[in-house]
Amino acid sequence: MNLLLLHCRPGFEKECAQEIQAMAAQCGDYGYCKTESGCAYVMYHSPQGKADRIMEKTAFRELVFARQWSAASQLLEVSAEDRITPIMEMIHSLPFAAQWVLESSDTNEGKSLSRLLKSLQKPLSKLIEKRGLLRKRSPWRLHVSFLTGTQVIVGLSRIDNSSPWVMGIPRLKVPREAPSRATLKLEEAWHTFIPEQQWGDRIAGGMRAVDLGAAPGGWTWQLVNRGMFVTAVDNGPMAESLMQSGLVTHERVDGFVYEPKRSVRWMVCDIADKPRRTASMIAKWMTERWCTECVFNLKLPMQNRYQELQQCRQLIESECEERGVGHELHFKQLYHDREEVTGHIRRLD
Ligand SMILES: C[S@@+](CC[C@H](N)C(=O)[O-])C[C@H]1O[C@@H](n2cnc3c(N)ncnc32)[C@H](O)[C@@H]1O
Repeated sequence: MNLLLLHCRPGFEKECAQEIQAMAAQCGDYGYCKTESGCAYVMYHSPQGKADRIMEKTAFRELVFARQWSAASQLLEVSAEDRITPIMEMIHSLPFAAQWVLESSDTNEGKSLSRLLKSLQKPLSKLIEKRGLLRKRSPWRLHVSFLTGTQVIVGLSRIDNSSPWVMGIPRLKVPREAPSRATLKLEEAWHTFIPEQQWGDRIAGGMRAVDLGAAPGGWTWQLVNRGMFVTAVDNGPMAESLMQSGLVTHERVDGFVYEPKRSVRWMVCDIADKPRRTASMIAKWMTERWCTECVFNLKLPMQNRYQELQQCRQLIESECEERGVGHELHFKQLYHDREEVTGHIRRLD
């Protein structure tokens, strides 16, 4: 296959392209990317036709800027009179899949295709079913991705090595009682970094947590909702309803100098500051063994965002290595992130 289609946040196409090119190079493939700023996707062209191989060799969770991906053989140019025939021909040329999705891109242009997509959903579904093109036990997901009304990529992703959400966008609702929309960032981070069957052990009632930059309390609300005791660190005011839960202690101090009296299970940090300053603080919490797991945000600068992230990752990795702290570290630009990425680190010793 020649193409990899990667969905990303509009405005982060360059970073998404840099990242997939670096991953492809590790697989010995030196392709090029086609993209436009703001289009919310990147097309990687593999000159050796190794797109599927790159996908097989790369763990999707290692990609920070890609929300979803699929591998395909070519970009289809379809006519507005008959889109279905060439799409079905292309589907026939692919292996059976267990499920299929219809996608566009996360832009206004993409949204303007929603009526078209709705009108195609039923007829395509019927044809796919009638021709027996789905197999329950297949590892593949079929993607029919409209870039414009007449440009389509029909490709595949492995269900166990991609995002479970259409276009990598989770459908989360702000809980009515949560004090801020930011609450969804922590919820999405948990969905992204922690397998759901482990939530009961890793995000559990009775655990102690510290929330740095907590006000007004969206992240604290998530922790309290799981039954945790939370120290909320912020000079700003916390929502009164949260304080009444009896599970929250509010400390009006600087999050960068705060030290817990004893170690906690979770530290979360949503302070917007220089990314390397935050990375140093995370490294300190891990190497001092003040917490076991941490979710944190890195605000990325306008320039050299990809390089900045690599440096932050390197900083945390090298300090943990130096101090013999076994860990796993991942980053992802979440759907609810803006000019930032979210990190998750977990001590393994
Ligand atoms: C994006 S808001 C946090 C939102 C919060 N996570 C929520 O879900 O409601 C960032 C917060 O960081 C706080 N902040 C900024 N610098 C800080 C510092 N050095 N120490 C502690 N809090 C800080 C701000 O007062 C602000 O309330």
